[in-house]
Amino acid sequence: MKIMQVEFVISAVEPHQYPVDALPEIALAGRSNVGKSSLINKLIQRKGLARTSSQPGKTQQLNYYRVNERLYLVDFPGYGYAKVSKVQRAQFGEMIERFLSDRDPLKMVLQIIDIRHPPSKDDCLMYDWLKHFDIPVCVVTTKADKIPRSKWDKHVKVIKETIGFKAGDQHVLFSSETGLGRDELWAVINGAIAQ
Ligand code: GTP
Ligand code: MG
Repeated sequence: MKIMQVEFVISAVEPHQYPVDALPEIALAGRSNVGKSSLINKLIQRKGLARTSSQPGKTQQLNYYRVNERLYLVDFPGYGYAKVSKVQRAQFGEMIERFLSDRDPLKMVLQIIDIRHPPSKDDCLMYDWLKHFDIPVCVVTTKADKIPRSKWDKHVKVIKETIGFKAGDQHVLFSSETGLGRDELWAVINGAIAQ
């Protein structure tokens, strides 16, 4: 997709702050530090627009980016950060659950997983949640540049098996470093917002 215009809109803490213009939304979920913000920056070709937090795990907002007046990319807070308190963890759970269960404009969640490692328990729970709410998922295995190409297939297989990847979901191999998968992921996103 040719990026004509992209704009950071809001860090929403409360649902009343979510945009009301009903543009389709594509959310990104993944562990803290997995590369969500880097992936957004690569998709929209704006180095550094998506904010990277200096305090991982502390941000509880949904960051909204509007692209070409056509869709929003919604950056979720990273999960699984060890130093988060029980209260923060519960708040995160409530916010995301509410969002996933009744956010009409949400068309798809990109679940971002580091290709180097098997998915964590939190990754598996997130995937189960997405299935529970019947939300279309694209699993994006990122940081592909960090392992040799010859190992990609094997790692992807383990990741899919571990989360219980369902037929009908999509998968894209990605690297924010090299741009691998960028066009393919835009095609998936365009398909999802056309539904
Ligand atoms: P939180 O906002 O804390 O949840 O993190 P995040 O998921 O947004 O991760 P972020 O994009 O900030 O990336 C974390 C680190 O991984 C940074 O140092 C990035 O430069 C690096 N990184 C992200 N994606 C890639 C990639 O595809 N390849 C390589 N080599 N490094 C990456
Ligand atoms: Mg981030």
